[in-house]
Amino acid sequence: MAYRSCVIILCLLNVILEVADVLTLSIPAPRVCIIGAGYSGLGTARYMKEYGVNFTVFEASRHIGGTWRFDPHVGVDEDGLPLFTSMYKNLRTNTPRQTMEYAGFPFPEGTPSYPTGPCFYKYLQYFAKHFDLMDNIQLQSYVTLVKWSNDHWEVTYTKMDTKEKVSEVCDFVVIASGEFSSPVIPDVDKLNTFQGKIIHSHDYKDAEAFRNRRVLLVGAGASGLDLAMQLSNVTAKLFHSHHLNYNQPDFSKAYVKKPDIDSFTPTGAFFVDGTTEEFDDVIFCTGYNYAHPFLDGSSGVTASQKYVLPLYQQTVNIKHPSMMFVGVSKKVINRVMDAQGQYAAALAAGKFELPSREEMLRNWLEHVYAQQNLGQRIVDVNVINNMDEYFGNLTAEADINPSPPVLTKIARFNGRNRLEDLLNYRDYDYKIIDKDNYERTYNPRKEQPCPIEV
Ligand SMILES: Cc1cc2nc3c(=O)[nH]c(=O)nc-3n(C[C@H](O)[C@H](O)[C@H](O)COP(=O)(O)OP(=O)(O)OC[C@H]3O[C@@H](n4cnc5c(N)ncnc54)[C@H](O)[C@@H]3O)c2cc1C
Ligand SMILES: *[C@@H]1O[C@H](CO)[C@@H](O)[C@H](O)[C@H]1NC(C)=O
Ligand SMILES: *[C@@H]1O[C@H](CO)[C@@H](O)[C@H](O)[C@H]1NC(C)=O
Ligand SMILES: *[C@@H]1O[C@H](CO)[C@@H](O)[C@H](O)[C@H]1NC(C)=O
Repeated sequence: MAYRSCVIILCLLNVILEVADVLTLSIPAPRVCIIGAGYSGLGTARYMKEYGVNFTVFEASRHIGGTWRFDPHVGVDEDGLPLFTSMYKNLRTNTPRQTMEYAGFPFPEGTPSYPTGPCFYKYLQYFAKHFDLMDNIQLQSYVTLVKWSNDHWEVTYTKMDTKEKVSEVCDFVVIASGEFSSPVIPDVDKLNTFQGKIIHSHDYKDAEAFRNRRVLLVGAGASGLDLAMQLSNVTAKLFHSHHLNYNQPDFSKAYVKKPDIDSFTPTGAFFVDGTTEEFDDVIFCTGYNYAHPFLDGSSGVTASQKYVLPLYQQTVNIKHPSMMFVGVSKKVINRVMDAQGQYAAALAAGKFELPSREEMLRNWLEHVYAQQNLGQRIVDVNVINNMDEYFGNLTAEADINPSPPVLTKIARFNGRNRLEDLLNYRDYDYKIIDKDNYERTYNPRKEQPCPIEV
């Protein structure tokens, strides 16, 4: 059954994609445009430079670093642009830096395994300087349209200083615009009747704004757990509504665990267990949607709030393989984005050839069926379940830097350990011994050093 419908879908897609088209990707492309100068865009730029590709990075804001730069503005920045970063004060990474480092570019010795947000930002600045990327980065260039026309990409952006609209022709486009900028606010009954303040963690900057207030925190993902720690000793009351099953630490007396919300009232909420609470503010830590508002129908990908498809190797737009996405994959370590950036650069530099579109589609469909067999929802097409296999596939196909399994081992351990020991899991340092093994040592510090000079 599954095989038959697979064949039918393939036939249909063949028609849609006109597989008979000749692929002309083996000719090295003269011009690459990268959208976004966060971790993903910078990582991609490094390899483009290394491979001698002519490229420009278009970055909307006045700064590189994306998510990792703290910005005191809320909502819009000094140029009236939507704020892309969701960084808050006193953040430390929730994953050991070893899983986040660019290939061959470790943090200096002595950097804690869970550096602060500003330290990670410094690392990105240092990276851009080290690889001499700044000359290729065009700041204040807000991309509004990427259009396929006459066998190339036309990238239109607004120069935020002059408000001038400019269009440029690009042979390859790499989309590295991030995935944590467009907040999800769940559709909870009577939310609009609540009279207090409602924010999303995207707009959360600092616990101080909530001192002595009664706060409802919603969600227990990475941000929800972090904010629970930041707020529990500051707020008068902290109601935390979530359904994560984990080893809840002893927060302060102000902390009250709540189940899901049933509906809001003007001054609080009913919960599904029949209880009611009153509070002043709500903070939704309820995640982010994908947002690629600059793509139109000509791109040939379906870019919704929940997925981007169909992508070969989670990177290549199968319909127009001169468009690559770096950093839309879910549940991955940052090192995956480094690998995708190198893969994109190798493709643009003509270092390898893609299989036929039909082959790429078959490969993608196999991934979709595998996800379904794992019980994943169909929207999880951008989830990578087996990072080691994924790294292996990229390396085999495009000869990219291998990523040793020790990184994914650390990531898996950290994922479990965070839920076991939320208050202390960052008090450890990791050391990589070899490609399979690491050491973990207890090393609590009062201050987090950041031995990087930019
Ligand atoms: C609060 C927070 C904490 C996190 N902590 C961790 C962690 O501890 N460990 C971990 O592994 N991951 C963490 N992450 C995940 C994080 O997203 C990645 O680490 C990484 O920063 C992603 O980089 P990126 O370049 O893909 O996206 P971003 O960092 O979002 O960069 C995208 C860039 O594209 C630019 N841009 C967007 N749209 C346009 C446009 N239309 N035109 C031009 N430019 C545009 C933006 O200005 C931005 O500079 C965290 C994420 C958040 C939000
Ligand atoms: C790179 O591309 C731009 C835009 O097409 C072009 O103006 C420039 O001359 C190119 N640079 C090199 C070194 O080829
Ligand atoms: C709250 O403060 C107490 C006393 O200073 C401290 O022991 C505890 O770890 C703090 N809790 C959190 C979650 O930071
Ligand atoms: C790796 O490649 C194989 C063969 O194409 C494929 O079946 C598998 O799904 C790929 N794995 C990942 C994680 O992409």
